[in-house]
Amino acid sequence: MMPHTRRLAGWLLLSALLGLSLAAGARGQEQEPERFYTVQISAVTRQQRTAIARLGLAIDAVSPDAVTVTVSQGELERLRREGFRLLSVQPLQFPIDDQDYHTYAEMVAEITQAAADHPEIVQLAVVGRSIEGRNIYAVKISDNVASDEAEPEVLLFALTHAREHLTVEQALDLIAYFTDNYGRRGDVTNLVNEREIWILPNVNPDGDEYDRLGNGWYRNWRKNRRNNGDGTWGVDLNRNYGYRWGYDNVGSSPYTSSQTYRGPAPFSEPETQAIRDFALAHPDLVASISFHTYGELILWPYGYTYADVPADMTAEDHAVFVEMGRRMAALNGYTAMQASDLYPTNGDSDDWLYGQRGIFAFTFELYPPTTSPDFYPDDDVIPAQTSRNRQAVSALIGVADNPHKVIGLGGDNTPPTAMLLSPAAGATISGEVLLQAMAEDDVGVTLVEFQADGVPIGLDTSAPYTAAWGIEAMPGPHVLAVRAYDHGHNIGLSAPVAVTVVISEPTPTATPTATVTPSPTATPTATPTATATPVWPRRLFLPLLVTSPPADT
Ligand code: ARG
Ligand code: ZN
Repeated sequence: MMPHTRRLAGWLLLSALLGLSLAAGARGQEQEPERFYTVQISAVTRQQRTAIARLGLAIDAVSPDAVTVTVSQGELERLRREGFRLLSVQPLQFPIDDQDYHTYAEMVAEITQAAADHPEIVQLAVVGRSIEGRNIYAVKISDNVASDEAEPEVLLFALTHAREHLTVEQALDLIAYFTDNYGRRGDVTNLVNEREIWILPNVNPDGDEYDRLGNGWYRNWRKNRRNNGDGTWGVDLNRNYGYRWGYDNVGSSPYTSSQTYRGPAPFSEPETQAIRDFALAHPDLVASISFHTYGELILWPYGYTYADVPADMTAEDHAVFVEMGRRMAALNGYTAMQASDLYPTNGDSDDWLYGQRGIFAFTFELYPPTTSPDFYPDDDVIPAQTSRNRQAVSALIGVADNPHKVIGLGGDNTPPTAMLLSPAAGATISGEVLLQAMAEDDVGVTLVEFQADGVPIGLDTSAPYTAAWGIEAMPGPHVLAVRAYDHGHNIGLSAPVAVTVVISEPTPTATPTATVTPSPTATPTATPTATATPVWPRRLFLPLLVTSPPADT
């Protein structure tokens, strides 16, 4: 790292640390926040429902015998004063602006649904239990998900620290991204087919639950919920890992009341034991990301020492960390640096994952970049601030076949070659056409994606590579292309092929492979919308992987 950057990092550290304590102090002094409740009001008749509506309350739901509203403390008191019959009163789990964040129970419901929706690529596992007995879940995403294939594995885990709720949303966004785009996007499909992706959305469920007061405010909690037996609670899980545990008292604290209390012994906590045991049970694990907030940073080991390349790191591995940090930062706009350049830590997860297991272990510090809005951004930032990391995470998963290849040391760096065979450039297409491609690679093509105007329209995993296209395409000029992937997730892009789609009887220039049956829905009246930017209907993707062409082509 350049000295200048190092100074900047120091600044970030200082303001982050100061910001933390100031924010914590300020929170204590602030006036009591307004509390919110979800209330079910008895209402059987239309008149009763009208009386509720007249209060000017936002109605969340109506059932035959009740109306559900979200109300402030003041509104709740008014409901009681005015004699409404309240069937239930539940404090909001998250503050009013944070409703889209997932509680532990909502997270479990979400991953259970993901597994039910995608049984062929998603499987849930319980990899441990918290001190208070909550399950620590792992979501495995891969093809042939029930078997442990000889594929590189990547570990993504969130909520080591209780108040860092955005990291759960990050994990859930990645689960949705890798599952919902399977069979649709070539890049996602190839990663799911060629890797085993493990996502642990919440490794500190007790702390997570404890951090929410349930009255619209937070406790600013960081640690787990260990009873230290001296009136203090909690071990900092990110100081409890067993690599150079307790190396000094700067990078972790021996005092139970400290925010960075390392615990009485390495791996004294069931939450860190769960991750340790998971990593030991999965020898194919080659890379990991631990999600934290905040700072918009990408950190690599070590945290325990300022040395860039100490005796327990090879120069090659260090070069991989630097290069992957740079690549991922280019994709998400974060700043990449060695962890100790931010501030020193010992006993953190990355030092153990790399030092003990040789895993290319990164920490992402998510949004926001600075101390405002610190750990508790409103929920409206969730979509942008989590989807922002999809490509950076994908890049790490993509090189997991051999991370040393990013510095040119071995591995598969050679992209496939790809070519669209049919239709030919300049062809006029009507009705449905069978796209045909050729792709070759030194270690084998794993997937071919067909694109129209840059949008995927079909995938195929085995030669001859084909996809059906056109029956619902907009008339006019289009550019077709092919993208081929290999085991190393290298991408080969074909030359673009310009074609014209007409909605009419096939013309003599149509290629022989075009199926000539005009679409029954393709009527001449379709032309007014013809110049609109094409939006490919989802149903084009539904034959998930077209594996064989019609026998007569
Ligand atoms: N903010 C996290 C923590 O304090 C991540 C630390 C990463 N390591 C480091 N040396 N800065 O646990
Ligand atoms: Zn953290």
